Amino acid sequence: MVEVPSEKMSPATTPVFEPRIVALLCHYCAFAAADMAGVMRLQHSPNIRVIRLPCTGKLDILYLLRAFEEGADGVMVAGCEEGSCHFVKGNLVAKRRVNFTKGLVAQVGIDPERLRMYNLSSSMGPRWAEISREMIEHVRSLGPSHLRREK
Ligand code: FES
Repeated sequence: MVEVPSEKMSPATTPVFEPRIVALLCHYCAFAAADMAGVMRLQHSPNIRVIRLPCTGKLDILYLLRAFEEGADGVMVAGCEEGSCHFVKGNLVAKRRVNFTKGLVAQVGIDPERLRMYNLSSSMGPRWAEISREMIEHVRSLGPSHLRREK
């Protein structure tokens, strides 16, 4: 099969970039919200691969870096709302780690906007569906990560 150079492809044949997004969710709120979205039959996109953490306080900077290294185009972290973490300050610790990691990834040429953190309560199923769509569209607008292209 002959591969057609991308400049010669018509808009109808140009493949749509489907971002790969890793979502690290705390068990008690964000994962429960995603679960509720499923119960409400709100669409869950296959672009998002969910990893459940007991609390976002368990988030390790290496998890974020490894996700990018393995070719994720975007990474999202979602924990309980501030003041509602079941382990008191886990989400605040995660917020600091996410902000620190944004600086690290910027140094290796990854747009720090590919990494975002959200806070949800367990009843926010529709909000989970909304931020999922928002993240997918945002990462789609940024295009594939250069680490993914290199792989
Ligand atoms: Fe949800 Fe800590 S238990 S962020």
